[in-house]
Amino acid sequence: MRVLICHDTATAACRTADILCDAVAARHGAVLGLATGGTMEPVYALLRDRLAAGTLDLSGTTTFNLDEYVGLAGDHPQSYRATMNRLLFDAADLRRSRTHLPDGAASDPATEARRYDAAIAAAGGIDLQLLGIGGNGHIGFNEPTSSLGSRTRVKTLTAETRAANARFFGPEEEAPRYAITMGIATILESRSCVLLATGPGKAAAVAAAIEGPVSAACPASALQLHPSATMILDPEAAADLRLRDYYETVHPGGGEAPL
Ligand code: GLP
Repeated sequence: MRVLICHDTATAACRTADILCDAVAARHGAVLGLATGGTMEPVYALLRDRLAAGTLDLSGTTTFNLDEYVGLAGDHPQSYRATMNRLLFDAADLRRSRTHLPDGAASDPATEARRYDAAIAAAGGIDLQLLGIGGNGHIGFNEPTSSLGSRTRVKTLTAETRAANARFFGPEEEAPRYAITMGIATILESRSCVLLATGPGKAAAVAAAIEGPVSAACPASALQLHPSATMILDPEAAADLRLRDYYETVHPGGGEAPL
């Protein structure tokens, strides 16, 4: 696992955007796994800037998002589909048919989840999966105690996750109770993955993910099993790491140390 501790939040977002752009440039038909959450907004803003400047070409890229709320159709403003359209897809030269999210309005969400898992495999798997982390260590919507062998399926959200995501919904509106999410095994099958965590609210989950035992109690700790996982952190999110000095020696400022 590569642990990159950047000087500040903006640098961490930029490092993440660079890794995504490198994956797109490396293979014209790249398959990206994408994530939502407030942490990702500066990353998508950078990608929009690069699209506008002509330095990023997504025309050959296929995308699969991690998750979607059950019960929200793609035209609901807080659906992850609408969020991704707003944050990235509307600005990109991406054919909409190449952008995939689970259908939150599917009449049978369990069948939709299995279809989605199969669609990822049919696309040849994910080259680079972008991930955030919940304050309780979730990735996608794999809440604590999710099976480390799980595939894409319906998950019940914890009260903590619903409270954290309530800020995206109006005062009259309840945050959804269920989501379709890629499973942990699905995520681990990506050829590489990059997790971005910023801010003090993520410090405990980040420490458990990187330095704790591999455990369903902290779903992000499953990334310790991934052969090509990169954790990009700002100083606040890195605050609880016991081996912080070591990571900073190996990757000064979140970069590569000359050997
Ligand atoms: C949601 C998403 C996750 C994301 C998490 C953290 O639960 N399903 O993919 O990592 O929120 O979000 P934020 O970046 O807003 O803290």
